[in-house]
Amino acid sequence: MSQPFTPRPLVIAPSILASDFSKLGEEVRAVDQAGADWIHLDVMDGHFVPNISYGPDVIKAMRPHTKKIFDAHLMISPCDPYLEAFAKAGCDHITVHAEAGPHLHRSLQAIRGLGKKAGVSINPATPVSAIEHVLDLIDLVLVMSVNPGFGGQAFIRSSLGKVSDVRAMTAGRPIDIEVDGGVAPDVSGELAAAGANAFVAGSAVFKGGTMEAYKANISAIRNAAALARGEAI
Ligand code: DX5
Ligand code: ZN
Repeated sequence: MSQPFTPRPLVIAPSILASDFSKLGEEVRAVDQAGADWIHLDVMDGHFVPNISYGPDVIKAMRPHTKKIFDAHLMISPCDPYLEAFAKAGCDHITVHAEAGPHLHRSLQAIRGLGKKAGVSINPATPVSAIEHVLDLIDLVLVMSVNPGFGGQAFIRSSLGKVSDVRAMTAGRPIDIEVDGGVAPDVSGELAAAGANAFVAGSAVFKGGTMEAYKANISAIRNAAALARGEAI
């Protein structure tokens, strides 16, 4: 007899990239109170992606403002020399890109060795098979639904099929399936139905600029996903 499917918890992870950088601590507290489950931290190096954001010192400064999980998304290459700094800055999850270097397996071992949850992200053009041989080393797969580097881009619909494929590949394993880029209430239901359980959203959370707006924005993404999962709202 087959086991009943127990879905991973539904998670909304606001991306701080879309917040007001002049008041980062306040913005972290606001999304925390507005119902964020994880705080998504986009680290960009101007080399792996064509934009520069912030690094471990800025993350360390945000850390005292919430007890929620710090979900770091490293869009940097190389990543290995910086993993320890991100761990020490207070990141709970450290996600690296499959495309960022030749030794993904080693990077994931290093993250686990630092006592952190390890994630792998794949760009829109990267096949799901890129994660096939590291499944034992990961806690999270981050499917990019835009080309990384900037917030506010349009959702790439072919990501839906990739989410289904990742779900099939990771079935039975304790691995979160997270989606990042252009995620809003209009797609969170479809993504949840395809198998995603964690939703990163920048623009769709921070629009409105107040805690009340963030609360409504987070609820809208969550409710559409919960509905698709057949869960009570
Ligand atoms: C893109 C980042 C995303 C981005 C999401 O490189 O990884 O986390 O901030 O922003 P939105 O939700 O505006 O697409
Ligand atoms: Zn991200």
